[in-house]
Amino acid sequence: MEKIAAVMGATGKTGKHIVQKLIEKNIPVRVLSRNPSKAKKMFGNNVQIIEGDLVQVKDLKELVRSVTHLFAAHGADNELGEDRYELVDFEGMKKALKSVPNGQTTHVIYMSSIYVERKNPPYNFPGNPLYWKRKAEQSIQKSVHAYTIVRPGWLNNDKGGKLRIVAEQGDQGDGKISREDVAAVMLQAMNFESAKGKTFEVYNVAGALVKNWNNFFSRLERAVILS
Ligand SMILES: NC(=O)c1ccc[n+]([C@@H]2O[C@H](COP(=O)([O-])OP(=O)(O)OC[C@H]3O[C@@H](n4cnc5c(N)ncnc54)[C@H](OP(=O)(O)O)[C@@H]3O)[C@@H](O)[C@H]2O)c1
Repeated sequence: MEKIAAVMGATGKTGKHIVQKLIEKNIPVRVLSRNPSKAKKMFGNNVQIIEGDLVQVKDLKELVRSVTHLFAAHGADNELGEDRYELVDFEGMKKALKSVPNGQTTHVIYMSSIYVERKNPPYNFPGNPLYWKRKAEQSIQKSVHAYTIVRPGWLNNDKGGKLRIVAEQGDQGDGKISREDVAAVMLQAMNFESAKGKTFEVYNVAGALVKNWNNFFSRLERAVILS
């Protein structure tokens, strides 16, 4: 089946790498942004731009119609206001999932975060972003859709493809990762059945680059706990 992708958070510091990689692969891309002129400046005529604020829009049918892959790398700008984490990160994700037409096969590839499963995270941010990211994960895990949930460590803007990427499960670890490498993992997830149903953390470490992405995904367990 021909791939068609939609990207939430497309203009973000990670989302832009996702979009650029999709364009390089000649995969048709639809992007959501509150600011279409920003998206146009970033991506030119290479993408279809859907203007919309996740808090304000009723549904996202125009964004997700016919897409085989839905990438979500959005995140609230504000902690406690009208556009807080609860409404952007969680309710926005739910809106997108609900907007996928019945019977449409869509693989949801979600950018979450490390620390979402820890009881008392050391960084107790106002607005509880980690709690709402976990709730967004759960809405995806419980949906009818195939999914891959990528939980990056602390993000940086280093060039991707320079360090090894490791994947772990259980949310016990800690580390940093380049946003471009997060995008690379999310793009690779498109290509492998072994990436589906997987929730995992990713970090950069010193060492050889990942050569076999099927092995990278295959050694991870499928999620069974949906609490
Ligand atoms: N900081 C860390 O170390 C860390 C670690 C792990 C995960 N994370 C999470 O990873 C995610 C991506 O991070 P990033 O730095 O790449 O993000 P970013 O640069 O802050 O980009 C956020 C994106 O979300 C979109 N967005 C925000 N509010 C929106 C709304 N109301 N409606 C529609 N779109 C909205 C923005 O789109 P427009 O402006 O175009 O509308 C933008 O494209 C965030 O959720 C972040 O919390 C962060």
